[in-house]
Amino acid sequence: MTVNAVFWGFFGTAMLMVFHSEADHRLPALKNLSYTWVDPFTLNLSWSWDRPKHLPNCTIKYEIRYLDKSVKQPARTPNHHYKASFLTESNEGKFSIHAVAEFCAGWIESKPENIFISTQKPIVNVVKDFKCSIGSSQTNCSWEPVSPSAGLNISYRISGIGENNSLKMCNQSYSCGKRNGCVLENHGPENDIYVLAENAAGLQTFKARRVILLPKLTIRENESYLYLEWTPPDIGKNCQLNYVVCYSECERDKGCPKYTSVLNTPEPLKIAYDKNCRYEFKFNATPDKYCPPIHCDGIAVEVYGNNTRVKLSDGRLTVVAIVIPLILSVGVILSCYCFRRHRAILCPTMPDPSTIFKEMMNGNKEQKTKSESLYTPVPEPVEPVTITPVN
Ligand SMILES: *[C@@H]1O[C@H](CO)[C@@H](O)[C@H](O)[C@H]1NC(C)=O
Ligand SMILES: *[C@@H]1O[C@H](CO)[C@@H](O)[C@H](O)[C@H]1NC(C)=O
Ligand SMILES: *[C@@H]1O[C@H](CO)[C@@H](O)[C@H](O)[C@H]1NC(C)=O
Ligand SMILES: *[C@@H]1O[C@H](CO)[C@@H](O)[C@H](O)[C@H]1NC(C)=O
Ligand SMILES: *[C@@H]1O[C@H](CO)[C@@H](O)[C@H](O)[C@H]1NC(C)=O
Ligand SMILES: *[C@@H]1O[C@H](CO)[C@@H](O)[C@H](O)[C@H]1NC(C)=O
Ligand SMILES: *[C@@H]1O[C@H](CO)[C@@H](O)[C@H](O)[C@H]1NC(C)=O
Ligand SMILES: *[C@@H]1O[C@H](CO)[C@@H](O)[C@H](O)[C@H]1NC(C)=O
Ligand SMILES: *[C@@H]1O[C@H](CO)[C@@H](O)[C@H](O)[C@H]1NC(C)=O
Repeated sequence: MTVNAVFWGFFGTAMLMVFHSEADHRLPALKNLSYTWVDPFTLNLSWSWDRPKHLPNCTIKYEIRYLDKSVKQPARTPNHHYKASFLTESNEGKFSIHAVAEFCAGWIESKPENIFISTQKPIVNVVKDFKCSIGSSQTNCSWEPVSPSAGLNISYRISGIGENNSLKMCNQSYSCGKRNGCVLENHGPENDIYVLAENAAGLQTFKARRVILLPKLTIRENESYLYLEWTPPDIGKNCQLNYVVCYSECERDKGCPKYTSVLNTPEPLKIAYDKNCRYEFKFNATPDKYCPPIHCDGIAVEVYGNNTRVKLSDGRLTVVAIVIPLILSVGVILSCYCFRRHRAILCPTMPDPSTIFKEMMNGNKEQKTKSESLYTPVPEPVEPVTITPVN
């Protein structure tokens, strides 16, 4: 036997021992995985597990992994059951559970077991664009039904898993165009709203998107400036909104200044003001990172001032600029026409004053006939007259 052979024989035995010991020390898998629905958003997962006889005195916990679109942290429990939150919008209908030994050298976690979940009704899209406006005294939720003909029920619960959180019916209290809505009972802005939407075809569960209405803009005029201020919404102590205001002055685009109202010391947004101009402000807002997870709904428009410079595009000025010259020119044309037809009456041929003067100077008293058309005398030869001044 060579040294090499001895070494390899020893090494191989050692490796076998390692593998053998590792295989011995894997915790057994969970058995009898099952679930019940506590409510439409909550599952009670349960299982059984046989403790190996030779397992030392160490703590065994069960780790539940959410196989989710949302990357949720795994949860651990020493019990043989676990209340897991489940929303059709994020859960793929699958959990994986395995046993882990805490502070137990030499023992490794069990192989995971999967459990597949099916909802009590098929998962369908019942509503779309579901949003709840918060911040006022009431929470006002609205949605668009996916298939308007199918009657649907909306129920909700405030916050996820809790002992004292019954499911409440959201009675349809209004319908506004394509959207339907209802008013929820009052609750704090920091709470999530879990919604169950059901129709004859199936159900859908999700967390409601929470929105706040854009705060009202007040515009104050002082000297040659406009001061823009927003009433701060009541959505949490440190929460503030970032505004973007796009505005025009006399219909000319003036860009989009950004504005953040500093908490407790509201400093208005200052804009140079031309008294002859109409201002149009369009704004929206985004909550900062200290706000609860909300959105601001829509874009608001506010106008201030009047365009007072004379402009042709103005309605009344158009009348002045087009209609009056038109009437005037029609009048002129008509009067020219009348003038031509009745020229004899309106304008009898006037004798040339210079001729009269000449006649007077000549002493020629010959009467001119009024109607020259009847008789035109042959012009007499007239001798040139020379006037000699008398000395
Ligand atoms: C648990 O599963 C085992 C087999 O894996 C079975 O024999 C036993 O009856 C099950 N127990 C329950 C309570 O379902
Ligand atoms: C969950 O199931 C276990 C066992 O099946 C039971 O002991 C427990 O009370 C249940 N919990 C809830 C909240 O239903
Ligand atoms: C197992 O450990 C726990 C504390 O970790 C202790 O309370 C218990 O008495 C121990 N049991 C045995 C059988 O050693
Ligand atoms: C809820 O919103 C709708 C539509 O926006 C509105 O007509 C209704 O007055 C609101 N109700 C309350 C209580 O705010
Ligand atoms: C649970 O709700 C009831 C009324 O719905 C209330 O009287 C009770 O105080 C609540 N309990 C807790 C712990 O919030
Ligand atoms: C809402 O509907 C439920 C059951 O459908 C009913 O018990 C409750 O009184 C209704 N609430 C209102 C405000 O209509
Ligand atoms: C809606 O709720 C009412 C009263 O709870 C019930 O009779 C009806 O079947 C429900 N409809 C659907 C589609 O779930
Ligand atoms: C205008 O602003 C000045 C300071 O910028 C202030 O002293 C003055 O009182 C203001 N006037 C009005 C009418 O608000
Ligand atoms: C704009 O005109 C309206 C009436 O046409 C008037 O009531 C309003 O005060 C004017 N605004 C300003 C800022 O001059």
